[in-house]
Amino acid sequence: MPPRKSECDVRKRLLAAARRAMKNAYAPYSKFKVGAALLTTAGKIFLGCNIENASYGMTNCAERTAIFSAVAQLGPKIRIRAVAVVNNQNAPCSPCGACRQVIFQFGPEAMVYFLGSAGWTQMPIADLLPEGFRLQ
Ligand code: THU
Repeated sequence: MPPRKSECDVRKRLLAAARRAMKNAYAPYSKFKVGAALLTTAGKIFLGCNIENASYGMTNCAERTAIFSAVAQLGPKIRIRAVAVVNNQNAPCSPCGACRQVIFQFGPEAMVYFLGSAGWTQMPIADLLPEGFRLQ
């Protein structure tokens, strides 16, 4: 088996990938561009950006775009090892509640990297979403 990449390598690689994804954001309303990159437990990276809509509530966050892309391409068995989130305003931006639940669904042990109120932060999804919902 190839050696497992160190946590630090994963973080750097995902943050760089998230910055690339951010460039594709469609955010004409908020002007707040977000990029996300996730690493599956099988070692594949998927990218996502936020995609807004004139009907504001139809907006899809960068994190969910990345997860839906991973599932669409590799199927429902994917497991998320880690997710990184960046934005174009260098503003604190942890995943919203809806995205936390979706991250938890596909990666209950995933690590999340984001800019928090006290700076760059890494936190397991189970800490960001205590008692995440599971069906059964
Ligand atoms: N947004 C994300 O894409 N991810 C987050 O974690 C927080 C918010 C987007 C949604 C919307 O397009 C814009 O940021 C402002 O809320």
